[in-house]
Amino acid sequence: MVTGVGAYLPPDIVTNDDLARIVDTSDAWIYERTGIRSHRQAPSDQPVSELAAAAAREALAAAGRTAADVDLIIVATTTPDNTFPATATIVQRKLEAPVGIAFDVQAVCSGFVYALAVADGFVSRGQSRCALVIGAEVMTRLMDWTDRGTCVLFGDGAGAVVLEPGPDTGSTDDRGILGFSLRADGTKQDLLYVDGGPSTTGTIGKLRMQGNQVFRHAVVNISEAVVAASSAAGVALPEIDWFIPHQANQRILDGVAKRLGIDPCRVISTVAEHANTSAASIPLAMAQGVTDGRIREGDLLLLEAMGGGLTWGAVVLRL
Ligand code: ACO
Repeated sequence: MVTGVGAYLPPDIVTNDDLARIVDTSDAWIYERTGIRSHRQAPSDQPVSELAAAAAREALAAAGRTAADVDLIIVATTTPDNTFPATATIVQRKLEAPVGIAFDVQAVCSGFVYALAVADGFVSRGQSRCALVIGAEVMTRLMDWTDRGTCVLFGDGAGAVVLEPGPDTGSTDDRGILGFSLRADGTKQDLLYVDGGPSTTGTIGKLRMQGNQVFRHAVVNISEAVVAASSAAGVALPEIDWFIPHQANQRILDGVAKRLGIDPCRVISTVAEHANTSAASIPLAMAQGVTDGRIREGDLLLLEAMGGGLTWGAVVLRL
């Protein structure tokens, strides 16, 4: 079960007006098309492991745990400190956590949903008693600052949860991950990718996206995964207390909620202030809902995401 949630946002705020000084765009266009008003940008000398470690410390404190308890660290990121080692091992060193299991999951914006499902396997098999699952990104490092179709959409940040074994009576009242569904379709890679890498160009590359095509796939794909995850969990959608989607675009959030008949009051949205922080967006939104008192222990949460790959998926969990 999730026993603690934490977040870290770099302090520097970049507004749409700031972006309009770099590319031919406007606050009105960006807000109307995406719901974004601003995003955070980490300074260029701040590695993603630092954001991840800060969010992890907050999650551990919320769980009443210390780094000494941690036996598994999974970092979902598409912007690692280095090609290797895994950012999770760097976070382990920074937290001074003991020898344990640490690795990264790369599923771009779906990374946190994938990482939760992976961590659940370790926890439910007794391989981990205190797992840190972190989504952390510095997406601004992947931007082509001459491409107005992408550079206005992404931000930096990190969110983390602590997962521990919970009661397992087989009931949907149990706290913890009740069900999930994960998907990937590699034939749609050209819709959203980074045009570099260690074994191709030898460079980091820049994010490339056919935004309108990604948008077209998003609502249908996500809705199907949500229905599958709810069915695996044995819950009906009207039972969901809080819908916590990947924060790519307010229009996608609204479209999925409408298609699934989810009350807009039950949707946690941070897209206006965070923009798209890829794998960090769901735990950041979760942390926001917990901090402002909307999300409480025992609530039934529905998480979903779609990202490059294409990958997508959904998780149903009781907090
Ligand atoms: N400011 C002003 N005009 C712009 C901007 C901008 N920032 N960006 C694009 N435009 C222009 C285009 O040049 C185009 O102009 P043209 O008609 O003269 O050629 C026009 O706006 C329409 O472009 P579209 O790309 O069709 O615009 P659309 O309405 O689809 O909105 C957007 C673009 C916001 C990117 C939208 O498609 C979207 O949000 N897509 C989904 C993104 C997403 O969910 N990604 C998934 C996760 S990301 C990940 O996994 C890393």
